[in-house]
Amino acid sequence: MFEVLPSLPADPILGLSAAFREDPNPNKIDLGVGVYKDEQGRTPIMDSVQQAQTRLLQQEDSKTYITPQGHQGYIDGMLELMLGKHSPALLANRVAAVQAPGGCGALRILAELLTRVSTDTKVWVSDPTWANHVPLIGNAGLTLETYPYFDKDTAGIRFDAMMDTLKQCGKGDVVLLHGCCHNPTGADLTNEQWDQLLELAQQRGFLPFIDLAYLGFGDGLEQDAYGLRLLVENLPEVIIAASCSKNFGLYRERVGLAAIVSNDSKTSSIMQSQIQSVARGIYSMPPSWGGALVDIILHDEALRHNWENEVTAMRTRMTELRAMLVSKLAENGAPKEFGFVNQQKGMFSYLCISPEQVREVREKHSVYFVDSSRVNIAGISKDNVETLAKALVSVM
Ligand code: LMR
Repeated sequence: MFEVLPSLPADPILGLSAAFREDPNPNKIDLGVGVYKDEQGRTPIMDSVQQAQTRLLQQEDSKTYITPQGHQGYIDGMLELMLGKHSPALLANRVAAVQAPGGCGALRILAELLTRVSTDTKVWVSDPTWANHVPLIGNAGLTLETYPYFDKDTAGIRFDAMMDTLKQCGKGDVVLLHGCCHNPTGADLTNEQWDQLLELAQQRGFLPFIDLAYLGFGDGLEQDAYGLRLLVENLPEVIIAASCSKNFGLYRERVGLAAIVSNDSKTSSIMQSQIQSVARGIYSMPPSWGGALVDIILHDEALRHNWENEVTAMRTRMTELRAMLVSKLAENGAPKEFGFVNQQKGMFSYLCISPEQVREVREKHSVYFVDSSRVNIAGISKDNVETLAKALVSVM
């Protein structure tokens, strides 16, 4: 039966991790997969998470299934974190949500849900977008289209071109937007640009689909939620896929949230039944552990404070690493100005060099990052930044 299937190339992001592991060069540098690393190159369990785990080990007294929607405390805590304590949509019971197996699980649940509305739905994604958006949404049976987003020549957002394309969208179209810390470019919309986007969504009636995987990694937990909150507060319908992989460091626990904001509470309870039925048909019930940890952290004042400080420390470190890379590139004679890296947000930067240069730096210097020139800023350290800058300059 299976002889008809061909072998497939490695995933462009995950394949890099495998190649990195096999590279014997002691000075190799991994700027590939989007995982936070500390100065020693480790991805430690966050202290707030470790404390919540200790508590949960004492508290958990059964391994029976949790409810189909997941831990309600987790869902409520996450919705409040993302939408704000006084969110009118939350107060009006207009938000349906399920705990999902990671941000990917949330994206897939929402894509499957959209096919229940119509299989003709087009989902507009930024050019470029995170590579895995394509199979996660496309394999559910939806058509993907792209809108212009990032200009490699200017290292800036093509906002006018983006808006011109989105003017063609209307009711029945879905526009996928990165809530903050755009993956792969690190180039985020300004608040004024979000305001203009809201106006367009109000005029045209398209449905915003927000992917929020890096809340807190850009400018702060509140600041990064600006665009999402603006849309949710001013539009009848928005859908949201969120992840706790990065800001809680819970990568392997697969903790995400799929949420649907609808026009009124009656529609919302219908959507709750729909979204649970979609989840039941894919994986049945969510895993418990990660969601239970986030629930504990968000509802304990001291732990939450600790967690917020840890997010701030990660964000600050990444901002410092950006500045360090930019100045080391200049010191080592880079033929162009990299100041734009300091403006980009979150875990990623697009270095705006060619795929040939990316491959050359990988082959000659064992520096691993995606061909698009996306680097994981958190993979840089005080120890490797000089080597990195020299390697990059040597291929420019
Ligand atoms: C990334 O973009 O590197 C991360 O979101 C991990 C992944 O699954 O691709």
